[in-house]
Amino acid sequence: MRWTTARTAAEATTCDVLVVACLQDKDGIDRTGWAALDKAAAGVLGTLEGSKVFSAAAESIYVAPGGRAKASWLVLVGLGKIEDLTQEVLRRSIAKAVKKARSLEAKRVGLALPWRGMTDMAQDAIARSCAEGGELGLFRTGSHKSDKKTGTANPTEVKVCIGNAKIADVRSGLVQGYDLADGCLRARFLVNMPPNELTPAKLAFEARKIARNDGYTCSVHGEAWLKKQGMGGILGVGQGSRKESKLIVMERKPKGRGKVPTIALVGKGVTFDTGGISLKPGGGMHEMKGDMGGSAAVLGAAMILARREVNARLLIIVPTVENMPDGDAIRPGDVLTMASGKTVEVLNTDAEGRLILADGLHHAKNLGADMIIDAATLTGACVVALGEHFAGLFTNDGPLGDAIKFAGGDVFERVWPMPLIEEHHKLIESPISDLKNIGPGRYGGASTAAAFLEEFVDEDTPWAHLDIAGPSWTDVGSPLSPKGASGFGARLIARAVERYLECAVDRDNG
Ligand code: BES
Ligand code: ZN
Ligand code: ZN
Repeated sequence: MRWTTARTAAEATTCDVLVVACLQDKDGIDRTGWAALDKAAAGVLGTLEGSKVFSAAAESIYVAPGGRAKASWLVLVGLGKIEDLTQEVLRRSIAKAVKKARSLEAKRVGLALPWRGMTDMAQDAIARSCAEGGELGLFRTGSHKSDKKTGTANPTEVKVCIGNAKIADVRSGLVQGYDLADGCLRARFLVNMPPNELTPAKLAFEARKIARNDGYTCSVHGEAWLKKQGMGGILGVGQGSRKESKLIVMERKPKGRGKVPTIALVGKGVTFDTGGISLKPGGGMHEMKGDMGGSAAVLGAAMILARREVNARLLIIVPTVENMPDGDAIRPGDVLTMASGKTVEVLNTDAEGRLILADGLHHAKNLGADMIIDAATLTGACVVALGEHFAGLFTNDGPLGDAIKFAGGDVFERVWPMPLIEEHHKLIESPISDLKNIGPGRYGGASTAAAFLEEFVDEDTPWAHLDIAGPSWTDVGSPLSPKGASGFGARLIARAVERYLECAVDRDNG
């Protein structure tokens, strides 16, 4: 969808459906600024005043004929009271309104906002939330039905009436919102793909597409290369699968010279996790097609960051494998030698994510990473602890943790700080090798997994691990996402990197 701006008054904006976003006051709809529109629409706002039909409560919708306005229909959408208005309320409300416009078969949509009543929020942030919410809201899960009905087509354009707002701010906000949503939607698309389609090779193909579009170089390393590098973690996990394991490495340098930091994003790309020989129970196993959610998040973030032209060298590292039980699969009791040289006793083949990430993290260091964020659907324990609305945040660096928490609030992809201490490292000591891949019991499973990863990053390299096993997939859905893949992490990581870099500049300037 194209997000454009119009200088026309709301009622004079030519479109099929005009979305009118209304604030709420104590009597219901806050009609400030809508007099001319109301007149054109036969006084509908006045009629609704004080009624229970539509009181401009957040996310509520009312459809009225356009009357003499230059739109066939008006979709009134409530934003709630100004003191309760957040970017997320705005995203959700606009998502619902744009979906309503689609159901009315609108091609061209107008969007009128109460700019004068929203002075507490920056205009670019308002525009961004509208585009972000609208794009996320229109997402539909792809269908594999033989009957190729696709449903009502999306609108082609949303024209935002700028009113008294600054056009440059509105435009830049719209671009930012669109780009953030685009990264998130790509992540959803990848996670929803059936695992017979999205193999490691296909994930690499999808990464290549992103690289080509967004100015990255992309190398896809196969098993011969992995052997040369001694990447025993990736090779070990993948050895039970007919599908070749791969390490995807994308790189992007900013324009211009001068020294810039290298930021590495590492994502778990298990295209299907059966558990291997430590086989998972059958119920719900199909959800393990989403075990590449971390890789989808970093690939989505890669798209967003490239378009934001961040001033850093970006490395996207995705170890990708299929975890299958087989005559050649790794066994509980096997000892693997990782790329870093550390040896690992595999006590449970279902704790595979940390094995492939260990090689990915080591490679990030080898390629000169100054800061690393990894994302992974790593542990059921994290889902038990935090549920589907929070990702677990583990980090060895205060400013990086702060940047991620800031980003979580900014895109409403919430994170919760989790403990990671020396005692967790003690739990993964093995009598026969450097490490074992699980702790002695089930308790604190998200932290022992994080401790394992930390063994493969330098102490003095800022690193954060996001366990997104809960939020990567939604069983409840929301106005911004149908049930299934949520695309969690793409927007979060992109905004966190931007914030981290901004704050680093401030730190350098004293
Ligand atoms: N992919 C799973 C974690 C997971 C669980 C993701 C639920 C999404 C939803 C991971 O590879 C796994 O199986 N972890 C085990 C580790 C255990 C064997 C120490 C787990 O969490 O049970
Ligand atoms: Zn597993
Ligand atoms: Zn897994």
